[in-house]
Amino acid sequence: MNDDTTTVDVEPDDRLIETDPAEAGLSRDGAASGTAPTVIESRHLNVWYDDTQAIRDVSMEIPERQVTAMIGPSGCGKSTFLRCINRMNDLIDAARVEGELLFNGKDVYDDDVDPVALRRRIGMVFQQPNPFPKSIYDNVAYGLRVQGRTDDLDEQVERALRRSALWDEVKDQLDESGLDLSGGQQQRLCIARAIAADPEVILMDEPASALDPVATSKIEDLIADLAEEYTVVIVTHNMQQAARISDKTAVFLTGGELVEFDDTNEIFENPESDRVEDYITGKFG
Ligand SMILES: Nc1ncnc2c1ncn2[C@@H]1O[C@H](COP(=O)(O)OP(=O)(O)O)[C@@H](O)[C@H]1O
Ligand SMILES: [Mg+2]
Repeated sequence: MNDDTTTVDVEPDDRLIETDPAEAGLSRDGAASGTAPTVIESRHLNVWYDDTQAIRDVSMEIPERQVTAMIGPSGCGKSTFLRCINRMNDLIDAARVEGELLFNGKDVYDDDVDPVALRRRIGMVFQQPNPFPKSIYDNVAYGLRVQGRTDDLDEQVERALRRSALWDEVKDQLDESGLDLSGGQQQRLCIARAIAADPEVILMDEPASALDPVATSKIEDLIADLAEEYTVVIVTHNMQQAARISDKTAVFLTGGELVEFDDTNEIFENPESDRVEDYITGKFG
């Protein structure tokens, strides 16, 4: 992983912008902290669903090519925060976002950001595997065809399936339905589908919580592996999983407050906040 950089200038990501980036008043003043450049940064982010506040003044910087875990009790806003990153909350009428959410220095809520282009760069995998009712091949090829990236389609599909540790299990049944795979294979197929779009960031919302222990362990190995190439942000209610697979851990507590964000071993071995200590030692939540 990237541990060799101390100061990094990241250019604003003009691939998100439909209009002329020179007119968009882009600037990047959020310096990268720690050892890896910051890919995603929230600044004083607040989210409401109608009158209920789900995220409360959250500021954090998510480093490149690491696994950042978000933990905390049910209802504390983990999924809401994740969905802010690629604007999936746009699809929820009651949701309202205030503050800044920067991706490579560009606020994803700026008027000139195309959410579809954003979601290609920031892919998402959900708790319930949701392959399309199509063949394994077509699941992975789907986004490539939509984007018109059909040169070497077979090679691209194979590469995505290899990258998601599924190729060896499905290479002789690419024409069979993705829905006939096991739950764990379906989840890796969804990861392959996200990877095929060539994202920079992969968001995962409890990606293993519907899976058995063997399938979970395969997904955990895969996530660690993916972080060599992608920035991974994972929500999990499983603290052991966060401890096993993440580099950084963000602890949210009730009311959508980010209580502590630090290196994962600091959070689990030496948390600053008593509330975090109580949470991770199981006193509540
Ligand atoms: N679509 C929605 N409409 C209204 N309220 C919601 C919606 N999604 C989540 N909430 C509320 O926002 C808060 C945070 O929810 P969520 O982000 O799902 O938490 P977590 O993922 O940590 O369990 C909860 O109070 C939840 O009831
Ligand atoms: Mg959730």
